[in-house]
Amino acid sequence: MTGVVEPVIRTPDQRIRVFVSSTLRELADERRAARAAIERLQLAPVMFELGARPHPPRALYRSYLAQSDVFVGIYGASYGWVAPGEEISGLEDEYRLAPRDMPKLIYIKAVDERDERPRELIARIQSDDTAAYLPFESADDLADRVAGDLATLLAERFDQSRKTDEVPPTTNSLVARVPVPYTRTIGREHDIAAVVDLLARGEDRVVSLIGPGGIGKSRLAIEVALAAEQHFPDGTYFVPLENVLEPGLLLPTIAFTLGIRDNGEAALEERLSRALEHRRVLLVLDNFEQVVEAAPVLVRLYTVAPRASFLVTSRIVLRIRGERVYEVPALSAPAAGAPPTRERAEQLAACALFVDRAGAAKPGFALTDDNAGAIMDICRRLEGLPLAIELAAAKARMLSPQLIAERLGRSLPLLTAAVRDLPERHRTMRATLEWSVSLLPPEQRAMLDDLGVFAERFTLDAVEAVGVGRPW
Ligand SMILES: Nc1ncnc2c1ncn2[C@@H]1O[C@H](COP(=O)(O)OP(=O)(O)O)[C@@H](O)[C@H]1O
Ligand SMILES: [Mg+2]
Repeated sequence: MTGVVEPVIRTPDQRIRVFVSSTLRELADERRAARAAIERLQLAPVMFELGARPHPPRALYRSYLAQSDVFVGIYGASYGWVAPGEEISGLEDEYRLAPRDMPKLIYIKAVDERDERPRELIARIQSDDTAAYLPFESADDLADRVAGDLATLLAERFDQSRKTDEVPPTTNSLVARVPVPYTRTIGREHDIAAVVDLLARGEDRVVSLIGPGGIGKSRLAIEVALAAEQHFPDGTYFVPLENVLEPGLLLPTIAFTLGIRDNGEAALEERLSRALEHRRVLLVLDNFEQVVEAAPVLVRLYTVAPRASFLVTSRIVLRIRGERVYEVPALSAPAAGAPPTRERAEQLAACALFVDRAGAAKPGFALTDDNAGAIMDICRRLEGLPLAIELAAAKARMLSPQLIAERLGRSLPLLTAAVRDLPERHRTMRATLEWSVSLLPPEQRAMLDDLGVFAERFTLDAVEAVGVGRPW
């Protein structure tokens, strides 16, 4: 068997998460009842309550959903509020956003009259074979059913996992939460060792892996997290921030990853710090550039959690106290004029990456004396940038390395991906660059536009000259 096997017995932080979706006001009693039932089974309810913001942004509940294990929908007479500019209510959106393979328990309240839209929604759910569709009468009735159905569901899953030959790991394997890349990591031995070393020393509270999009920050962070496991006996948590667009959502997202529920009681920051207080954990915050204004929150967090370490990936430095910047370099690539031999290409990580990915696109592809020169040329032109190399290598299915190199000599549009599961901002080099540019405030964007007058590289003096008298 391949892949990571989820442990059947989970630690308190790994409790099965049950996402509860319903309209808020009409079904307030039912929500309370469902929450109590879920908690009785020692599972973690994931529920949004009316707080400061009436409707959590879609990106947030998408990421909450992605990290939940079971979906419970409770539907009554009304369809719920449709936000301005939206076609469907939050209720329907949550159902649609739930991953297809997530078990769904849908409870339909017996009501005298139901509005048309929830009727349509329910009819659609009835024809969805991944959802169990269950009627109920009252809040008490619902609580009994939810508890019973969840217990049955868990028993089924437990049975299934027993049928596999794998022995479930009994150790506290929180590191299983770190995403496992499905391609081979190439090179980076030195970077991994250096960053693990920084973390193990424990002198810097925040180690930030900095570099442009596509240079391999996330990949390096994952490898470091896996390699540093023994230094963090209380676990490693991976917090993807790419869908978190508002700085104010940083803490709730970290809390969610740690399994801390938003119960509306103590302030979130306080509960987070209590949870982290004595624990030697590693928190990996991926794509921090999006919420960089929230960097001071990290300072508060590490002050109250003296044993926790933070590993951050970001396109821009955080500029907070306690930050140790680690510039992620490109993969080693050939210098101009390097001898175009197979032996030389083999030693360079950028070329090895090209060969590995080209082999995936075109079975039988191999590095030879004949194509070594072209491959080195490609990697040199792409300056060892892994994302660009992957995009170029994908073309090996149709084009020889020689032809790829030639096209690169002419233009960049070659670098568009045919891979559908890449994040949008990684599908093309253009999108990768646009993503970075989109994060700039207007003055800085205008400044960047103006720097386009330089045909090639430029110096800091030149930038200052262009920027005289303007805010940037
Ligand atoms: N050392 C490496 N070995 C293999 N693939 C890599 C390596 N570094 C990066 N990649 C791949 O290159 C692409 C960009 O890397 P990523 O870590 O996502 O960049 P970043 O986080 O800096 O934007 C990803 O598809 C990643 O899997
Ligand atoms: Mg990344």
